[in-house]
Amino acid sequence: MTTSRRPVLTVDGLSVVYETESPVHAVSDASFELGAGEILGLAGESGCGKTTLAYAINRLHRPPARIAGGQVLFHDASGETIDVLGLAPDALRRFRWSKLSMVFQGAMNALNPVTSIRAQLHDTIRAHRPRTSRAEAERRSIEVLERVGVDPARIGSFPHELSGGMRQRVMIAMAMILEPQVMIMDEPTTALDVVVQRDILREIVRLKDELDFAVIFITHDLPLLLEISDRIAIMLQGRIVELDAADRLYRDAAHPYTRKLLGSFPSLSGSRGDFIRTGVMADETPGGAS
Ligand SMILES: Nc1ncnc2c1ncn2[C@@H]1O[C@H](COP(=O)(O)OP(=O)(O)OP(=O)(O)O)[C@@H](O)[C@H]1O
Ligand SMILES: [Mg+2]
Repeated sequence: MTTSRRPVLTVDGLSVVYETESPVHAVSDASFELGAGEILGLAGESGCGKTTLAYAINRLHRPPARIAGGQVLFHDASGETIDVLGLAPDALRRFRWSKLSMVFQGAMNALNPVTSIRAQLHDTIRAHRPRTSRAEAERRSIEVLERVGVDPARIGSFPHELSGGMRQRVMIAMAMILEPQVMIMDEPTTALDVVVQRDILREIVRLKDELDFAVIFITHDLPLLLEISDRIAIMLQGRIVELDAADRLYRDAAHPYTRKLLGSFPSLSGSRGDFIRTGVMADETPGGAS
């Protein structure tokens, strides 16, 4: 199923194999389009290949992983189409984080423990825009921390001085700092408690609406995806077995595995509308409780 929006990313027939003693076909023939400003949810059980797919899109996969086929095309807002899998190393470095960025699974532990938040944010900017002045890097860092709900006064802190939720917000700030058009978020909130999760999700959706980037949001949590996604892709054993608008998928899933997944969340009995009113984003609706 294609998107009605301007496509920003086309993944076409992507396959990834782990070349281990007995090769693991972790991703097989994955195809989808991501629309500008869209949230595409990606769900499926542990080991179905979600993270492998995300890494391959960004060409962050490392041996024994190998891309066995397919294409990843990034359609820049400028009109240029970038063949991600064909980029030379230098061009790839420029592409990553500035056009497409990623918040990694377990990211809150991915910050460098011996460097301040300031240094990590400045470094990200200056790695891509070496002529940025220190003052400009500081201004941008503070702006992006504010956007993700971190008190800018904490910019001099080291990661261990921040809560898990704050560290995760810093990771999201880092992924946003170069204003990419696509962000891939791999289980960005699952390690956090429900209240913090909810706050961060609300922030992500708000930022997306404000800044108009597209998101591939990966999680086991199908109810959550039904809340925040425009469309949802369901992955099973390396294949995307279903991809549809979130409400259609909820009402009328075609694949038996999707129906099984939906059925395994007791909170999803009743209509999707009922769920939304009682679900994570409920207090975001106009007139809702705050
Ligand atoms: N380095 C590796 N070497 C060999 N096989 C791997 C490697 N990394 C992952 N795999 C295998 O590839 C498959 C897909 O793994 P992947 O981590 O992409 O799944 P996932 O959907 O992200 O799972 P989770 O929900 O637990 O994060 C699994 O069968 C996994 O065992
Ligand atoms: Mg994973």
